[in-house]
Amino acid sequence: MSSQRKLVLFIATSLDGYIATKNESLDWLFKVEGEGDNGYSEFYETVDTILMGRRTYDWILNHETEAFPYSNKDCYVFSRSVSADNKDVKFVNEDIVYFTNKLKNEEGKNIWIVGGGELLHDFIKEKLVDELIITVAPTIIGTGISLFKEDNYELELSLKGTRRFNQFVELHYEMKK
Ligand SMILES: NC(=O)c1ccc[n+]([C@@H]2O[C@H](COP(=O)([O-])OP(=O)(O)OC[C@H]3O[C@@H](n4cnc5c(N)ncnc54)[C@H](OP(=O)(O)O)[C@@H]3O)[C@@H](O)[C@H]2O)c1
Repeated sequence: MSSQRKLVLFIATSLDGYIATKNESLDWLFKVEGEGDNGYSEFYETVDTILMGRRTYDWILNHETEAFPYSNKDCYVFSRSVSADNKDVKFVNEDIVYFTNKLKNEEGKNIWIVGGGELLHDFIKEKLVDELIITVAPTIIGTGISLFKEDNYELELSLKGTRRFNQFVELHYEMKK
């Protein structure tokens, strides 16, 4: 019997826990000296489905000058305001627990939750994320869009591994069930 595929967060953060500045800049991240692609293509091979929030999708459209970067995967954008599917993405406004469990029960590779912080918070609170791969930049930005939100929850994780990519540290956790 094959095991259920996993929902994995793969994301980069500042040392003080921000995924972007308040005006959505990632310049502080892109100037860090990593190594190769910092594990990205290796991770990308492990997934065939991608989830993201509408603001992260807009960020990609505004900043990626080339073709949509995930056009070879099933890509879902969560939004309560936009529903116009296109050749690259499908928009979703469904109960996240129902939607995610349905996806997890389908055959396939793992599922990547890209972010951002708002969508991730809903997924974290509902305990839908199975693994977290967090790449920490050696940068403190003081304010911004936080990776984890203030709320009333406590989750226990277990550390699966760490890797160093020059100035980045990758932390790989599994959520305890
Ligand atoms: N450092 C990194 O690796 C990394 C990774 C990902 C993203 N980011 C950055 O994070 C920023 C965006 O993050 P964010 O927290 O502002 O926004 P976000 O989570 O990407 O998107 C928020 C939007 O998603 C929709 N949404 C959220 N929860 C939903 C739910 N339960 N059901 C349906 N729709 C839902 C809503 O869209 P509507 O308003 O349309 O209803 C909401 O406004 C960008 O700057 C991006 O570059 C950084």
